[in-house]
Amino acid sequence: MLGIVEQLEAKRAEARLGGGRDRIEKQHERGKLTARERLDVLLDPGSFEEYDTFKTHRATDFGMASQQYPGDGVVTGWGTINGRPTYVFSQDFTVFGGSLSETHAEKICKVMDLAMQNGVPVIGLNDSGGARIQEGVASLGGYAEVFWRNAQASGVVPQISVIMGPCAGGAVYSPAMTDFTYMVRDTSYMFVTGPDVVKTVTGEVVTAEDLGGATTHTKKSSVADAAFDNDVEALVETRRLFDFLPSSSRDRAPGLGVFDDPNRAEASLDTLVPENANTPYDMREVILKIADEGDFLELQKDFAGNILTGFIRLNGESIGVVANQPLVLAGCLDIDSSRKAARFVRFCDAFNIPVLTLVDVPGFLPGVSQELGGIIKHGAKLLFAYAQATVPKVTVITRKAYGGAYDVMASKHIRADVNYAWPSAQIAVMGAKGAAEIIHRRDAKDPEKLASHTKEYEDRFANPFIAAQRGFIDEVILPQSTRRRVLRAFEMLKTKEVPEPRRKHDNIPL
Ligand code: HXC
Repeated sequence: MLGIVEQLEAKRAEARLGGGRDRIEKQHERGKLTARERLDVLLDPGSFEEYDTFKTHRATDFGMASQQYPGDGVVTGWGTINGRPTYVFSQDFTVFGGSLSETHAEKICKVMDLAMQNGVPVIGLNDSGGARIQEGVASLGGYAEVFWRNAQASGVVPQISVIMGPCAGGAVYSPAMTDFTYMVRDTSYMFVTGPDVVKTVTGEVVTAEDLGGATTHTKKSSVADAAFDNDVEALVETRRLFDFLPSSSRDRAPGLGVFDDPNRAEASLDTLVPENANTPYDMREVILKIADEGDFLELQKDFAGNILTGFIRLNGESIGVVANQPLVLAGCLDIDSSRKAARFVRFCDAFNIPVLTLVDVPGFLPGVSQELGGIIKHGAKLLFAYAQATVPKVTVITRKAYGGAYDVMASKHIRADVNYAWPSAQIAVMGAKGAAEIIHRRDAKDPEKLASHTKEYEDRFANPFIAAQRGFIDEVILPQSTRRRVLRAFEMLKTKEVPEPRRKHDNIPL
């Protein structure tokens, strides 16, 4: 028996070397960890159970028969993060550049199937040159099998992708179908076709960084949700994100013990909103002051800054936050912010995470580029997502809630459960000056008369009480009491149940 055990250990040691010491060294020289080192950081110590350690490819063309590496370029299995299980796959760039063969795909599919069956998330650490070129269509078929499972698992178990190397071709489509994508600065890239192909086809000269680096995808394309300086930081942040999520759509996110007082008052919020309605303030401050221990995991931080999205905890419970940000574009809704928030609300709804909405929105951003870009359809995404969400929804209007944007931002009418307003709230069809100019068009050139009409409109509508009289606002609250009010509202809504109409699925305006 001893000999056999030694043989097993020797085989395992060989498998752990992946593509060999030289390639591991090269990986390290680039500032990247190996596939297994990454799993060591991501998972609780000693929790990783590996599957298919010895699986190899079946290709024979291009001299492949003699090039066999146990594991075939991907490490798969499961482990725990702060005690909760997750399935994982971690591509090994030292083996054929982490490229995806038929058998490599089979390994990923196996853990995805188990994840679905057992109601456990999947985290993919991606570092891959795309389809294994030597295998041709067998590799494409493998990709499609993964993509199909991504779609099946969507809304059933959380799927997280961490991009940790140059992901090209098929390697980017699976992450695109998952719920969250994290990237590593300077070492990770995502593109359907790389700079060389771009140059050949379109004549454009572009660097890999500009085409598909972390900055491009977090600031411009919004393909990625966040970027980090190195592998370790990205993986530690993935653990942090994981803690906010339930294991599946059948569960709730785990509650964590916190030290923060649920009744904590924040007197500074009483003076946060400036007297002048056109002066901005930082909505992030409101979020931080409401959240347990001031902890806010912000997603898509560098994209569409006019809306903030992310997770906080209230009395230890995971809560999704969507908030207009007056510091950027005065908090207007536009194409990018609507898409960003809509996808976030859909995620929260699919996974039983209640949504807190903080509103200070002067309306949809006017402009030719917005209209031609399809703001109608994109804005409708957010409206649709909120209207359809059945998770507990609590809304606080801090200042402006104008026009269609008032309706969209989790208003009572699209079935938010509890709607609060600060005394500084202004709920109206539009700003007072614009309103006066339209209603009193004849006096538009007379500044004195216009000022008086503006004041009249302001006195009538620049407050939360008309809406409160109609019950569209459940209560006008002191800003300092927001944490307590919101926290208690969510506690009360824990048993919320909403019957859903029978249908195959909705048809959200895509
Ligand atoms: C097989 C591959 C490979 C691939 C890389 N390698 N990509 N082997 N299939 N797709 C191998 C290399 O031969 C090399 O082997 C090792 O991985 C490291 O690659 P390098 O080129 O030396 O590394 P680097 O300079 O860092 O460049 C990484 C890279 C580049 C940017 C990923 O290798 C590259 O451009 N690869 C091709 C990308 C691509 O076009 N993929 C196909 C996309 S089409 P050795 O033995 O020297 O270590 C696709 C279709 C699916 O994916 C579509 C579904 C929708």
